[in-house]
Amino acid sequence: MNATRIINAPSLANCSFMDMGQQVEELVQGGAHWFHVDIMDGHYVPNLCFPVRIVGELKQKYPAIDIDVHLMVTDPMSYLPLLKQNKADWVSFHVDSTNFTRRTLVSIRELGMKAGVVINPSQSISVIEPFIRFLDYVVLMTVEPGYAGQKFMVDSLPRVTELDRLRKKHDVNFLISIDGGVDYPNAIECARRGAEVYVTGIYTVFQQEDGITAACRRFEKTLSDVLKTQIGDSTIAQS
Ligand code: DX5
Ligand code: ZN
Repeated sequence: MNATRIINAPSLANCSFMDMGQQVEELVQGGAHWFHVDIMDGHYVPNLCFPVRIVGELKQKYPAIDIDVHLMVTDPMSYLPLLKQNKADWVSFHVDSTNFTRRTLVSIRELGMKAGVVINPSQSISVIEPFIRFLDYVVLMTVEPGYAGQKFMVDSLPRVTELDRLRKKHDVNFLISIDGGVDYPNAIECARRGAEVYVTGIYTVFQQEDGITAACRRFEKTLSDVLKTQIGDSTIAQS
């Protein structure tokens, strides 16, 4: 089923470090709902990205924007107190990064943050079933994790549908987030299949001719229009 709302979550890994403050401000002016912050430890993925401190600085300047932390680390549990201290709103970690997925999800929630897991392209969607009731969101990787700017894997699309089916089967309402290479054709297809959160990068909001602010607005409007049309269509179909 189509999503009922669209959340634009620009991935700050796509910012130029030299111009980061300015670009973040432009994202805010463009109506970004969340900031997606990649945290890597150089072990779970062979790369590094942001320190946790950036979460606190963003939150201090933009308290109304939700900070969505994507942990690509081998010991997610050890990051939780610092994330809480820095006022992270949403925290996701990879299902294969800990033997204690359920305990980690519960700990995130106990700290007052929203909890999610991240599923890699090589992992089955059904992996979430044993702990599905502890999920506020699921991040579906549509590239291999570790680097910004890769191409969307088109065979991820049926996996969005599968996630949506699992939500219905278990009568739960976690959000579906799409992370990696999001572009217009694939984002529209994901919206039709039920995804709500879009981790946007260089194909949608960064490096666009009309600039970050206009590109952000354009992305939200385009996807929201898709939903409106679909909701209209389904109303007509039912009547
Ligand atoms: C990849 C990261 C993504 C990435 C998304 O490991 O998880 O968040 O920064 O940005 P794009 O879509 O540009 O790859
Ligand atoms: Zn990410």
